[in-house]
Amino acid sequence: MLGKESVTSPVYLRLSVTDRCNLLCRYCRTDAQNLTAPGLPDEAMLRIVSAMARLVSIRKLRLTGGEPLVRVGLPALVRKLRGLLPKAELAMTTNGTLLHAAAATLRDHGLDTVNISLDTTHPARFAHLTGGGQLDAVLAGVQAARRAGFERIKLNAVLLRSLRDEQLSDLVRFAAWCGCELRFLELMPIGAGALIYARERVPADEALAELRRAFGHPAELPRSSNSRRYRFDVDGTAATVGFIAPVSYPFCTGCDRLRLDARGRLYPCLRSTEAWDLAPYPSDCHSDLKVRIGLRAAMSRKNAIQATQRVWPARSMAATGG
Ligand code: 5AD
Repeated sequence: MLGKESVTSPVYLRLSVTDRCNLLCRYCRTDAQNLTAPGLPDEAMLRIVSAMARLVSIRKLRLTGGEPLVRVGLPALVRKLRGLLPKAELAMTTNGTLLHAAAATLRDHGLDTVNISLDTTHPARFAHLTGGGQLDAVLAGVQAARRAGFERIKLNAVLLRSLRDEQLSDLVRFAAWCGCELRFLELMPIGAGALIYARERVPADEALAELRRAFGHPAELPRSSNSRRYRFDVDGTAATVGFIAPVSYPFCTGCDRLRLDARGRLYPCLRSTEAWDLAPYPSDCHSDLKVRIGLRAAMSRKNAIQATQRVWPARSMAATGG
């Protein structure tokens, strides 16, 4: 049986709270891949997380989606998770469009850090890429997050060839201005990303070379678990820029991420074709046993996937949880 003593290291749980999203980013999902599952109720999610926390140490929990903030009552869920996991880092990945109104409450309820997706600082390109999204709303969200005093705010930008000419250096300038770490993500051939992959993919090394040409040689910073990081000098202001390159430089070794989707299925890896249903039984009996069995299976499959998995799944990030 899986007991805390049998697990050597803590885990990083990514919890999708809804697979709905108010944007339609071209690299994420198509309209036909729109997902409408309401997501498990708070009680069911908390039941799974608390059963997991009795079996493994959860060092970090990230709320993902879909877009987490389209879930009604998210701050209340954050507060309950904070109570359940007092020592874990509580993080959220958001597209930022609804953050302006929610940032202060989320911080107050115990959210530590936020990652905001921002692929371009050009309003028309942003609207085109996101299926009609308003850049201004995201920028207001970034500002509100800064005011709310999160421990860390990061910006995530997917590298896309059609955006590349202005995207890279303008985003770095924006990151320098707002003092947030910027991470460029290589496009992955999953979900709608697979449809545009051949023409849109930009390898991380190519993007780095371009930034060197724009801003000069950067200082190398310590790597994070999934990114190589650099400090560029932008007209006298420092900009920290990371590159997450799951295609060029997979970071499977040492990966401790587990993903729970909005229906309660546990994926050992973004690329996994298998998942284990952890959603509580209606009668509630044996629900903890279900978590125990699923968690053990997922964790043992994780090592096998790291060694052998060469395919990318068709399902989108919104379906698995970003
Ligand atoms: N390739 C790379 N990144 C993606 N994201 C969504 N789909 C893809 C893809 N196909 C990003 C989002 C968000 C993060 C959770 O994942 O933009 O920043």
